[in-house]
Amino acid sequence: MSKKLFIETLGCAMNVRDSEHMIAELNQKEPYEITENLKDADLIIINTCSVREKPVAKLFSEIGVFNKHKKPSAKIGVTGCTASHLGEEIIRRAPSVDFVLGARNVSKITEVVNKRHAVEVSTDFDESTYAFGEYRTNTFKAMVNISIGCDKSCTFCIVPATRGDEISIPSELIVQEIKKAVVTGAKEVMLLGQNVNNYGRRFGSTEEQCDFTQLLQKISKIEGLERIRFTSPHPLHMDDTFIQEFASNPKICKQIHVPLQSGSTSLLKEMKRGYTKENFINRCEKIRTLCPEATISTDIIVGFPGESDADFEDTMDVLEQVRFEQLFSFKYSPRPHTEAAEFDNQIDSAVAGARLTRLQARHTEILDEIMDAQLDAVHKVYFDELKPNGRVSGRSDDGKLFFVQGSEELLGKIVDVKVIKTSRGALDGVLV
Ligand code: 5AD
Ligand code: SF4
Repeated sequence: MSKKLFIETLGCAMNVRDSEHMIAELNQKEPYEITENLKDADLIIINTCSVREKPVAKLFSEIGVFNKHKKPSAKIGVTGCTASHLGEEIIRRAPSVDFVLGARNVSKITEVVNKRHAVEVSTDFDESTYAFGEYRTNTFKAMVNISIGCDKSCTFCIVPATRGDEISIPSELIVQEIKKAVVTGAKEVMLLGQNVNNYGRRFGSTEEQCDFTQLLQKISKIEGLERIRFTSPHPLHMDDTFIQEFASNPKICKQIHVPLQSGSTSLLKEMKRGYTKENFINRCEKIRTLCPEATISTDIIVGFPGESDADFEDTMDVLEQVRFEQLFSFKYSPRPHTEAAEFDNQIDSAVAGARLTRLQARHTEILDEIMDAQLDAVHKVYFDELKPNGRVSGRSDDGKLFFVQGSEELLGKIVDVKVIKTSRGALDGVLV
């Protein structure tokens, strides 16, 4: 009988892919069956995020829950970004944890899984040419890493400390991996990196020269691949050549994440983001001019140290001007190993909370207007998931989530769908 693995994944798409990598590696040694039931598990992994403080605090209470419900023989592993930045401290605080594996070290899972209190958290480790075993949660869409780590030094962000220096994965490895996924049914790929459009920054072993635009061109030649998405790009590296490729390449989905963080030029400087409010708006206008059908999403932090009322109004102003389709907004959370955590002008939590509420409320109004206007629109939807009650879900080229009545026959197909009902998060449609 195969062993059972319970794996909980927090954080970003990168973490989701790291979990798949770990499952693939474990399976190459001995088969594991994934279980949703903690009590059945022989191995429990929590793949953590440390970008904000809350999930870190949650980790230790979660380990308590594992201890209470798990089989006595079951092992517990803490992996991912919190593992990277807390390392051995996790075992000191929670000795029931068997191993700790950092976000840069996922390929070492089979080395640590049978070692009591093993800790592997080196951010110098180079996984860029590492060929992982095959495992995909969803065979219709593949996630593929194009780079690891991050070379930026945004003053709020812990990620460079947890994932290390940025290294690009050779383009031939990326193309090979996507081709394999296409053979097993994927028509769509999501390219992953902390900073995808900085691709080409540093290659592990070869002398390759290839920037992100060239990589997109290579990938779009793959036969059978129909859709290319990527996350996350940085506004600073959105040059005209890239935006032209984005707009004109029919395989590139017309959905783009442009993380703003703040609309205030002086705060952007304190954040070391490398662009101004005007540069940011100019890039979004360029996208809209060359590609009017594109949807733009963003990340915003409110309450960054020193944020004045006027700074916050700049953020609100960018929201009004760009009208982001999706907004991921957060209250600033001071993180270890970051410059901003040491700034002496931290913002009162209640002030930041009130700003966040206002930002989100205004965005909700904008989103309602955008979604209401979708009634009767027709989109090409790629169906990739069966849902309860005879429904199937998929996404339009521009990233909208759709539900229709249907069966598994729709899975893996791209079909014209007309919107019959709108809501903030998703659209109901019928096949046309
Ligand atoms: N506090 C709040 N939000 C943060 N993010 C990154 N670091 C912090 C922090 N210290 C947000 C940014 C980033 C997203 C993934 O998380 O908006 O783009
Ligand atoms: Fe969280 Fe950032 Fe690590 Fe992703 S890279 S898991 S968002 S800390």
